[in-house]
Amino acid sequence: MALVTTTEMFQKAYNGGYAIGAFNVNNMEIIQGITEAAGKLRSPLILQVSAGARKYANHKYLVKLVEAALEINDIPISLHLDHGADFEICKSCIDGGFTSVMIDGSHYDFEKNIEVTKGVVEYAHEHGVVVEGELGQLSGIEDDVKVSFEDAAYTNPDQVEEFVKRTGVDSLAIAIGTSHGAFKFKPGQKPQLRFDILKEIEARIPGFPIVLHGASSVPQKYVCEIEQFGGNLADAIGIPEVMLREAAKSAVCKINIDSDLRLAFTAGVRKVLYNEPDAFDPRAYLQEGRANIKTLVSHKILDVLGSDNKA
Ligand code: G3H
Ligand code: 13P
Ligand code: ZN
Repeated sequence: MALVTTTEMFQKAYNGGYAIGAFNVNNMEIIQGITEAAGKLRSPLILQVSAGARKYANHKYLVKLVEAALEINDIPISLHLDHGADFEICKSCIDGGFTSVMIDGSHYDFEKNIEVTKGVVEYAHEHGVVVEGELGQLSGIEDDVKVSFEDAAYTNPDQVEEFVKRTGVDSLAIAIGTSHGAFKFKPGQKPQLRFDILKEIEARIPGFPIVLHGASSVPQKYVCEIEQFGGNLADAIGIPEVMLREAAKSAVCKINIDSDLRLAFTAGVRKVLYNEPDAFDPRAYLQEGRANIKTLVSHKILDVLGSDNKA
């Protein structure tokens, strides 16, 4: 099976009331953990690569590793650029074998966002690649950009129809209260998402796939383990999984998860190095990180996304 776009995945997910997990990948063990879980549960997958991941691991390595995972697991996989900042990085990924790209013009004003997004859509569609755009701005950290809680802005439902029509995007990322990273709400603040805005958006663009960024749930199990093995993650808090499950049943077809993978992987590595301080074979601790990723992704597929047996 070759890498696929997200078109069919999203259509089925929309109609079936489930969502596809979009997991960030940075190295071989992370790719293995995610794809082994999805392969076993027969779930379609989106593997996404940020600019930081390309810088860390090299574009070519990541493409080849994903291709290997595809051959071994035989499930539909889309390879996606996460938070493409400009036309150049999107073009480089389109030319370099990705099947989906995100152009993130959410920090621009409405007209500039449309202009930048439209340019990417034209090039991508000529090459059989699909495009995710974004309207509204999440708080948190992605790459080197930090958006404060105060500067985050919900998506304005009045703008979505025009944005989708004028840009030609294939899916739309929206801001309804999720945020990037492991500290999603202010200390003491009750986690909440604006499902009313989501419903309004759904009504304006019926049948159109919506994307939720910043959707890690920050499992306390891994937070506690990292703390037990010497870390400090006070105030780490994520999106409650009941809310993510509710979103997955709606027009939300893609749910982005990165921080949870980082927490699971780090908890595994720390555990080995804490219990066996003399260990110096990287395989000894990396395999524990990989095992945690597999457990985490299996749980997401079964209990949050509902994408098992949809491959
Ligand atoms: O939304 C951002 C993702 O978590 C990627 O993070 O840019 O540090 O790889 P990164
Ligand atoms: P988290 O930080 O919640 O995992 O979000 C990841 C993300 O949105 C990647 O684009
Ligand atoms: Zn994101």
